[in-house]
Amino acid sequence: MKLLMVCLGNICRSPLAEGIMRHLADEQQLGWEISSAGTGDWHVNQPADRRSIAVAKKFGYDISAQRARHFNAKMFDEFDHILVMDRQNLRDVLQLASNDRQRKKVRLFLTDDLEVTDPYYDDNLFEPVFLGIEERCKQLIKEIK
Ligand code: 4NP
Repeated sequence: MKLLMVCLGNICRSPLAEGIMRHLADEQQLGWEISSAGTGDWHVNQPADRRSIAVAKKFGYDISAQRARHFNAKMFDEFDHILVMDRQNLRDVLQLASNDRQRKKVRLFLTDDLEVTDPYYDDNLFEPVFLGIEERCKQLIKEIK
């Protein structure tokens, strides 16, 4: 199974989803491939935001080696599921899809039409965002495996 996590900058939310999901999938020896990307290209090749690295470390995950990537249309065929953090990401990704098979791979990461809040401008949001992503990663593993 190949999963791609997508947000805007690929430095705050989707790197957390990538690192947590890889850690959990590896623990269960699922052999899954997990990656992440941003719909924007400003941070390409940069490590995750230091606040995401710190909150991940606090809860036992090391995301410090991950580097930001820019979402591109080739990724529709490289991944089985493309999980996006908010509705703007959903619009931006779907705009690059060229057929229904690609469109069907894309959905919001959270259930119930909820969005993962962008924590970039508020230090206090990183921990609740982390906890929400971690909880959903655990559910997703059960759903998808
Ligand atoms: P992310 O957060 O989409 O969760 O990585 C952001 C990071 C950077 C910017 C916006 C959102 N930015 O505008 O640079």
